Formats: sequence, structure tokens, C-alpha cells
Amino acid sequence: MIKIYAPASIGNVGVGFDILGAAIKPINGELLGDCITIKLSKNFQLINKGIFSNQLPTNTEQNIVWKCWSKFCKIIQKNIPVSIILEKNLPSGSGLGSSACSIVATLVAINEIFNNPLNSKELLLLMGEVEGEISGSIHYDNVAPSYLGGLQLILEDSHIISQNIPNFTTWFWIVAWPGVKLSTASARKILPKKYTKDICVKNSRYLASFIHASYTQQSNLAARCMKELIAEPYRSKLLPNFFKNKEEIKKLGAISCGISGSGPTIFAVSENIKIAKKISLWLKNNYLKNKTGFVHICYIDTKGVRKIG
Ligand code: HSE
Repeated sequence: MIKIYAPASIGNVGVGFDILGAAIKPINGELLGDCITIKLSKNFQLINKGIFSNQLPTNTEQNIVWKCWSKFCKIIQKNIPVSIILEKNLPSGSGLGSSACSIVATLVAINEIFNNPLNSKELLLLMGEVEGEISGSIHYDNVAPSYLGGLQLILEDSHIISQNIPNFTTWFWIVAWPGVKLSTASARKILPKKYTKDICVKNSRYLASFIHASYTQQSNLAARCMKELIAEPYRSKLLPNFFKNKEEIKKLGAISCGISGSGPTIFAVSENIKIAKKISLWLKNNYLKNKTGFVHICYIDTKGVRKIG
């Protein structure tokens, strides 16, 4: 029996739509992500557990875990039955890479129990494919960080899909999920098909500057470059009082604030733990819509997916 954990992630990281993703872990040591426990068995079996398991489809064949297993078996041309327990600890449609967590943990667990027939590139390609089927188009900015850890730059080059880039170890990432769902597929559908030259140039400049600032460890420059022109102007309407909240969070001392993935989770960045705690408290009091919502102060999770049992 093997138990695998895959961490939550912040897609886009406020500047690289579909191109940047960061794996995160709460500073209090809690695990923020999904777990898969797997063993070989006579028939395929799936048990859903965890605080958000009530959000999962009741039909097993609609569960991401089943989709991953069935695709994997097709690729290796062998039908190997397994028994799986999914601990769904992340809410779906949260913008924290919830589906990616399930996909990454499941595919890594299956690969491991089948004696690693797929290499890491093949696995990552498969993760992207499954994610694409769920969200409407392939994007690696959640699966890559959840799988590889750290801050990932999605290259989608013929040889390399994603590369780890330097992150700021002094940054605290505060994430707040309000307790309501927003489907990635619908948050992708509302985006324009075309952008003006001016937006393309500005967006390239911000992203290139952020990557430069990351490599040269210029924290303030990196934070100033975290501007998002592809999704934020359109998705902001789907989030409660986004610009007003952003302004308040900046007033509290955040050096950056944006939408995590496709939302409705928002993230804020601070280098100061006292400010991070203040922001966390403000978000708890002002951004959460119900008792299921949560706020976590996180570091970048550099490990990515891992065996925990
Ligand atoms: N890059 C993706 C998007 C992330 O913004 O649609 C989804 O979590």
C-alpha cells in the first residue's frame, strides 16, 4: 500500500497566465492538498474521504481518479485493478489547483504501484491532458507545481514542459478561499479570444521583468511586476468586490495581491509575518462567505508530490 500527497498551487501567480504556477504549504505544518492511498486489488474500487468529498460526483466513472486510472491503463495496454482511497481536502472550483492535486496524486500513485512504466515527462503530459479535459483546455500551471514543487515556469517546449525558477524564500503567501465555487471552465470561457498589441507588449514586459527579478532576487521589483492583463480585468467581475478588497489588502501592507488561478481564491504576498497575520485576519473577517471558507499563510512548497506512507 502506498500513500501519496500532492500540494495545492497558485496558478498564474498574478503575472503569468497559464505560464507560472507555485506549489504552496501552510506555515503551520498542515497539509493543504489531496492524498491518494492505493493498493492492487481484484476489482477497481474507489472510496472518497476528506472534508470536501461531499462535492465529488456520486458516479465513480465521473471521478477524476477513475479517469486517471482508465487513461493510464489504456496507455500501458493493461487493465490492472486497484483499490484507491481519495482524501479530498481541497474544495473543487476554488482556484487552488484542486483537480490538479487529485490528478497528480492519483497518477503518481498508479505509476508507482505499477512499477513506474511512465517517466516524469510522460506523466506530466498525461496530467496536463486530464486537467485539460476537465477545465476546457490544457494548462500546466497547477499540475506542474503540484507535481514538481516550487515556482514553475511552463515552457511547453518539445523536450521540457516545465522548469523550476528561483522564488523568494522571504515571501509569505496568504490565500483566502471564500467558501464558494467558481468553475475553471467557465472562468476560461469568459476571456477574450484576442488582445490588442498594447496589452500583449505590456503583459510580456511584466512577465519577463518578473522572471528577471526572480533570477536576480529583486523582491520589490518582482512584486511590482505582478500585474495581470489577460484574465484579471475580466475575472475580477466574478469575485466579490475584487478591486476594493485588493486596495484594502495593499493598505495593510501586502506587496502583491491577485487572483489565485481562476479564482475565487485570492492571494496576497508579504515579507513580514506580522503583516501576513494582519492580512489573514482581515480576509477571515471580510472575504469569507461561510464557515467552509478558509485562509492560510503559506510558504512555497519546494517538494511537490510526495510519498507520505
Ligand atoms: N491558468 C489557469 C487559469 C489556472 O487561469 O484558467 C486555473 O486554476
